Formats: sequence, C-alpha cells, structure tokens
Amino acid sequence: MRVAMIGTGYVGLVSGACFADFGHEVTCIDKDAGKIEALKAGRMPIYEPGLDALVAANVEAGRLSFTTDTAAGIRDAEIVFIAVGTPTRRGDGHADLSYVHAAAEEVAGLIAGYTVIVTKSTVPVGTGDEVEAIIARANPRAQFDVASNPEFLREGAAIEDFKRPDRIVVGAQSQRAVAALRELYRPLFLNETPMVVTDRRTAELIKYAANAFLAIKIGFINEIADLCDAVGANVQQVARGIGLDKRIGAKFLHAGPGYGGSCFPKDTLALSKTAHRAGVPVTLVDAVIDANARRKAAMVDRIAAAAGGSVAGKVVAILGLTFKPNTDDMREAPSLVIVPGLQAMGATIRAFDPQGMGEAAKCLTGVTYCDSAWHCLEGADMAVILTEWDQFRALDLDRIAGLLKDRVLVDLRNIYALSEVRGKPLDYHSLGRPPADG
Ligand code: UDX
Repeated sequence: MRVAMIGTGYVGLVSGACFADFGHEVTCIDKDAGKIEALKAGRMPIYEPGLDALVAANVEAGRLSFTTDTAAGIRDAEIVFIAVGTPTRRGDGHADLSYVHAAAEEVAGLIAGYTVIVTKSTVPVGTGDEVEAIIARANPRAQFDVASNPEFLREGAAIEDFKRPDRIVVGAQSQRAVAALRELYRPLFLNETPMVVTDRRTAELIKYAANAFLAIKIGFINEIADLCDAVGANVQQVARGIGLDKRIGAKFLHAGPGYGGSCFPKDTLALSKTAHRAGVPVTLVDAVIDANARRKAAMVDRIAAAAGGSVAGKVVAILGLTFKPNTDDMREAPSLVIVPGLQAMGATIRAFDPQGMGEAAKCLTGVTYCDSAWHCLEGADMAVILTEWDQFRALDLDRIAGLLKDRVLVDLRNIYALSEVRGKPLDYHSLGRPPADG
C-alpha cells in the first residue's frame, strides 16, 4: 500500500520504518528540513536500538523515503497518518492540538481519491471528529474517512513492540476504513495479533486509559515500596506474590524513583483535564499524578538520609540520567528533579549515562559529565543508580566500595539482589527492601 506519515517524531519514524518493513511504500514527511536531511543521510534524530539499520534497509529497498514536501509525500497515498506532536499545552495541562489541526488542514487540500486519514498521535477523545470537520470544511469534495489507530510502543523496545504488539486498536466509523487498516496490518495477523475495532472515540480513550492504568500500577507499587520500608517487608517479593495473580499481572510492578518519559506524565494530565471538563473527574488518575511528582522529590530526601542526613559538601556520582534505559530521552526524567534537588542541598554532581548526556546537558547545569561509570565513581563520596541500564547491573561492588569515600550506594531501581550486596563493604540502600545486612 502507499502510506504517508506526517511527523517524524518517535512514533512517526518508528511506525513509518516498520510499515515499510512490512512491504508497504512509505513516505515520511516533516517540516523540519534539518531532520529530513539528516534522515536522508542515515542519521537518526533519536536513539532507538535497531532503528538506524531498519531505516537503512528499507531506504535501500526503495520502500522508505523522506521529504519536507507534504504534497509530494501524500500523492497517491491510500493511508495518511498524522503522527505529529501533542505536547502539554503551556499553562493548563490540556494536549496542544495545533499541530494535528494544521496537518489536517494541509492534508485536506492535497488528497485525491478515497483516502483514510489516521491519527496515530495520542489525542484527546473527540479529536478524530475535529479532524474530520476540518477536512470536510476545507475540501467539501474530498472522499475520506478519519480513523484512530493509537500506538502503544515503548521507547527502547519500539521496533519489537511495533512488530509484536499485544493488540492493534482501530477506531473508525466506516467499514471501508477498517478494511484499509486491516490490509495495512495484514503481516501481523499471521502471528494472530488481535485487532480491537471500535468507534473512533473509544479508540482514542483506550490509549489514554492504557497509559493511565499503567501509571497507576507504578504509583501503587511505589507506595507499597514505602510501606515495605516502614514495616520491614520486601517489595520485590510482594510484587511477585501479587503479580502471579493473572488478574493483576507481573509487569509494571517495579518500584522506582517515579515514572517519566514522553507519555505517562503528559497523558495522565491530559486524561485528567478531559475528565474534569466532561464533569467526571478521574480521582485515581489525579492521585497518581500528585503521588508521582511527590515521589521524585522524595528521592532527594532519601539520598540525603542515606548520606547520614545531608549531602551538603558531598560529591555524588549519578549513574543513569534518562527516564529509562535504551533511550537518550530526558523528558520528565526523575533526574531532572533529583539532580537539582541534590545541588540545592549543596552536593556536587558527577554523572554518567550511556546515551543521555547530550540531552541531559541541555537541561541540567553544573554537572560534571564522565565518560564511563568508573570515571564517574572516581573521587565521589557516594553513588546513586537512577536508571537501570544493563551495564550498571553487574558492576564490581568491591571496586565501587574502593572508589567511594563514604561507601554509600543508593540503588533507586533495585537492580542488585540483596544476596549480592550482603557482606560487601558498602552501605547499600534500595527501595522497599530490608537493609542488605539485616
Ligand atoms: C509508555 C507505554 O509503556 C507505551 O505503551 C506508550 O505507548 C508510551 O508510554 P515509555 O514511556 O516508552 O512507554 O516507557 P515505559 O517502559 O512504559 O516506562 C515509563 C516509565 O515508567 C519509566 O520512567 C519507567 O522507569 C517507569 N516504570 C515502568 C517504573 O517505574 N516501574 C515499572 O514497573 C515500569
């Protein structure tokens, strides 16, 4: 099929490359000439494992191309995806739909013959109706349907998630649009991937509800971790004990320093706004938004407590800055709260992140960036593991102890087993688990 993808952000670029890999002919369109030039030269605007090779292979095969020219990009396209950004609108927490509306307006004048316009961006309920109205108004003769096809991919595992999804959600009012999307995703039906077909508003809400539910799951286990600390229980064992119940499920029960990223913070806020406007407040979602913000700030006090009450005058080595591993994304990362919080208390920060230091340097000041974990630990008084990159999972704990003046290691991702730490000359602190020497 001929597919046009408007927006080469995370979702647009990964989806475009994967659709091309399914055998479709895909043109990715972006207004940012620098980004398109870089993509044409094989340089990726984001770090995502496997993406550069996937893009190169499909460009080479002639199925994937990049352009800034929207008219040329959507010529003959049977399906046009709108995958532009929907950032949080400054000041009020609503999703900013101006890029979606502008894309709809532009597409309206360019489509020829029956075309399915699909929103892939996470958009508030009713956005599909607005896109439909914009196109119908701008081009009354256009033959089109508007569908919603939300994306559930995770950064760092985006290609795998796209090619082996748990489900595909399609929201459309017309059978013709559903048939076009079925054809587009046909390669996945060989793996028996279920397709959930709904009306458009329901599909839009599924995306927000999925992200809000996962955020609540994380918020819940984080509170249980604090309770474990208070009563002397082990949160990893609680998570396993409840997660084996199929109604609960084992995933997303890892206690941590609070969720970040481009989706959970933004989408929980947008869902809350939509719900308040509809007069049906989602109080659980509101509670997790507050709890998550408090959690990030509380980590600063936890680190200070591990240091014996204060980090003033201490050199703190931070391992990991991105909101999760396998990405260079710093959006809403806990480090953005924790690092300035420690600095405000008088700590000096050294940091290492395998991919995120370029992005981090744009938003964190006064940090000494190091070229390896070991370099970061040298001369520090204590260390904090903030992101669970694989390369931090099997560090030599004796060597760490030898490098840190105070021998304090705070593991905010619980990546070390208590049995590994026991007997080491380290003052090891983690979340919701009894002390290693206890
Ligand atoms: C998420 C959703 O998983 C994905 O379906 C959606 O399309 C976009 O948002 P992503 O933001 O890439 O994906 O990352 P994810 O792996 O879900 O992690 C989000 C945040 O939650 C991270 O900060 C992570 O550290 C945190 N998290 C996740 C936990 O603290 N504990 C967990 O058990 C799981």
